[in-house]
This record gives sequence, structure tokens and C-alpha cells, in this order.
Amino acid sequence: MIINVFGLGYVGCVSVACFGKEGHRIHCIDINDYKIGLINRGEPTIIEKDLDWMMKEAWEAGNILATRDYRSVMPDSDLSIICVGTPNNKHGHLDLSGIGHVAENIGEGLAASRRYHVVVIRSTVLPGTNEKVGRIIAEKSGKKRGTDFEVVSNPEFLREGSAVHDFYHPPCTVIGTSSDQAFAVMADLYKNVQAPIRRVSIPAAEMIKMVNNSFHALKVSFANEIGNICKSLGIDSHEVMDLFCEDTKLNLSPYYLKPGFAYGGSCLPKDLSALKTIAHDHYVITPVINAIEISNENQKKRLIELVTEQNGKRIGVLGLSFKPGTDDLRHSPIVEFVEAMLGKGYEVKIYDKNVHLSKIVGANKEYIMAKIPHISDYISDNLDDVVQRTEVIVISHKNPEFVDLPKRYPDKMFIDLVRIQRDLSEYQGAYCGISW
Ligand SMILES: NC(=O)c1ccc[n+]([C@@H]2O[C@H](COP(=O)([O-])OP(=O)(O)OC[C@H]3O[C@@H](n4cnc5c(N)ncnc54)[C@H](O)[C@@H]3O)[C@@H](O)[C@H]2O)c1
Repeated sequence: MIINVFGLGYVGCVSVACFGKEGHRIHCIDINDYKIGLINRGEPTIIEKDLDWMMKEAWEAGNILATRDYRSVMPDSDLSIICVGTPNNKHGHLDLSGIGHVAENIGEGLAASRRYHVVVIRSTVLPGTNEKVGRIIAEKSGKKRGTDFEVVSNPEFLREGSAVHDFYHPPCTVIGTSSDQAFAVMADLYKNVQAPIRRVSIPAAEMIKMVNNSFHALKVSFANEIGNICKSLGIDSHEVMDLFCEDTKLNLSPYYLKPGFAYGGSCLPKDLSALKTIAHDHYVITPVINAIEISNENQKKRLIELVTEQNGKRIGVLGLSFKPGTDDLRHSPIVEFVEAMLGKGYEVKIYDKNVHLSKIVGANKEYIMAKIPHISDYISDNLDDVVQRTEVIVISHKNPEFVDLPKRYPDKMFIDLVRIQRDLSEYQGAYCGISW
């Protein structure tokens, strides 16, 4: 392929060397003459393991040419990869002016082209950027998106220090596009990269880098706060975190990582509170750990807001215990929700096939009686009766019995806290996910 790489920094330089080494012809475009000079001598613009000899090899094979003159190289090319910087502006937003300039350049260059062209956004951008880039290119080139060119979102996952290795071994290759033609070009481009290709929607591809990096930052700060607490107690934090990392069932796993409702139960709130208190008692500052409960309370408020925004004063609640398949009501955030809605004068009907009031004993019974003393007036063992007698129905358990309810009762409003179905396209009526 004939490829243009816009931006010869970290991401651009690695792309040039790797694609150049594979035999593609690469035009390298930057506004920095020094970087253009380096590339035109077969030298990389950054220092990374293996990059110097790879760049040299590709350059000696005649596969690499750097220039400022984007107009001259665009018409004969198949693909343009945008790798320009997207730093934060003073308000914290990503500054996308570099992306806008490059989109104009590509549009101007494409005006004289007769080939189908794929534009690849490799830089980290905000959702909506792909569409804007497409509009700019169409305006400047007079060409039609979908017919003459396409814009694909393809975020880069490399880490500095192991950039070449990461280029060939990313966790997956993300390709955000709805075009089969552009997807085929991208799949061919990455045929030598050892990673599954994930074809996703454009906004999901635009979002993923910010989500990944924010999570990585959260991990670092969480581990550091745990370290500081451990140190104040004379405990070796690395011994603790070695154990933590051994748990690949709950700790380092997809578990707990799907958006939904607040956590609850008899363990998470209690032990989190205990950890915060230890930190406080030892004068250890733990803003990340302290913020967890605030975030959880916010999710509870969000449900109340979602429900009170609907037309309907009769609420159905499907699932009361804090986890499906149990009758443990202690610190169930859904019990708190029911209590709040009753307090606001709403009528509530509850269905939970595992909660039999006559069988609830001990701390569990005390808890529910203190929260909702007349619980027996609200609970029913007839699912359809609960749905028929209410207007807004909250699904709080991932129970197969609930999956087809939104289809069976299209006149009811369903608020889903568990993503009862992955594919929601069948729910045409009144349906609302709490965080999707
Ligand atoms: N560095 C990383 O580890 C890494 C990893 C993954 C993703 N990213 C993302 O990739 C993007 C690029 O990052 P980077 O670290 O390579 O940036 P960088 O600052 O190292 O390089 C950016 C390059 O773009 C050039 N440039 C700016 N405006 C231009 C224009 N109008 N035309 C042509 N060239 C122009 C600059 O001169 C510079 O050479 C960013 O969005 C970044 O967030 C970076």
C-alpha cells in the first residue's frame, strides 16, 4: 500500500518504521523540518528499542520519504494515518486543532485523487472527531464520504519504552467503522499484527483510549493509597498487592467492570468503610478510596432521578435482594430505593422469587423491618401481576424471567439496572438503561 503518515512523533515514527519494514511505501508528513530531515536520513525521531535498524532498513529499501508537501503525495496514495499530538488545552479538553489542520491538508490533497482513500485516526481524540474530520475532508476535497473516501477510528495502544513490541502485540486492534470496504483495507494493513481485530462503532473506538488510560491511572493511585495505608501500619504493601494480584477471579478480571447499579450487601460497604477509617486514624490521605462511596451514592441518586423523571406514580421493582439468587436484603441498594420512593409517596410493588418473608430471620429480618416495616404489603410472588399493576418497572436482577418483559409490555416504562440483554435492539418501546 502507499501510506501517508501525518505527525512524526512517538506514534507516527513507530508506524512509519513498522509499516515501512513490511514493504509499504510511506510518505511521512510533519510541520517540523528537523524531524523531516531525520527521517530522510533513515533515522527515527525518537529513541526506542529496535526502531533505529527498522527505520534504516525501510529507508534503504526506498520505502520512506519525508516531506512537508502533502499535496504532492496525496493523490497517489491509498491510506492516510493521522498521528499528530492532541495535548490538553488549559481547560483540560484535548486540543484537536492539529487534527483539524491535517483533515484540511488531506482534503486539499484528495481533491486531485481518483483513488478510494482510507483516512485513519490513530491519535487519541474526543468522540465526534471522526465525523468532523469526515466533514472537513468532504468540504475541502469535494469528494463524498463512503464513495470516494472513508474515515476510520483506530486508536494506538503502544507504551513508550516497548513501543515496537506493543505495535505488533496490542491487546486487540480496534477498528471503528461502519464501512465494509474500509474495514477490509484495515484488516489487510494489520494482517501481520498478532492480535484479534475488533470491529466496533466509531464512538466506541474514539472513547476507548481515554477509558483505558483513566483506568490505568486509577490503578496506580489505588495501589499507591493501599501502599501508604500499609506503610503506616508497618505492613509490606508489596506482599499485600502480590496476594491481591493473584486473585484473577474478582480483582484482575472483567468482574465488576460492567456499568450498572450501585454496589451493596454486607461486605463491600462495611470493609471499604473500615479501610477508610484506618487511613483516617493514621493520617493517611486517600482521596481515591474516599471517593468510592461518594460515587456509589451518586449512582443510587441517579436511579431515583431516572424514575421520578417518568410519568407514573406506581413503581414495580423486580429483584429486591442485593444479589440475584439470594434472599440477603442487608444493605441492598434496591431496598434503599424502595424506602426512598415510599417516602416520596410512590406506590411500590415488588417481585423477588427468592425473598420469602416467612423464612427471613436474624440480622436480615431486623434490617428489612427497620427499613420497610410493611414490606409484606408490597411484595408479591406473581411477576405479571406486579408488572400489570405498575407503570414504571425497575429491573434490578439479571433474571431470565425478565428478559422479554419490555417486549411483552411495550406500554410500560422499564428502567434496567443490569443490562438484561446485551442486544437491546428488540426493545422498541419505553426502555431506559441506567448507564447506557
Ligand atoms: N506517546 C504515546 O505513548 C502514545 C500512545 C498511544 C496514543 N498516543 C496518542 O497519539 C497521538 C500522538 O502522540 P505522540 O506521542 O506521537 O505525539 P508527539 O507530540 O510525539 O508527536 C506529534 C507530532 O505531530 C506533529 N504535528 C503537529 N501538528 C501537525 C500538522 N498539522 N501536520 C503534521 N504534523 C503535525 C508534531 O510536529 C509532532 O512531530 C496523541 O493523540 C497521543 O495521545 C500516544
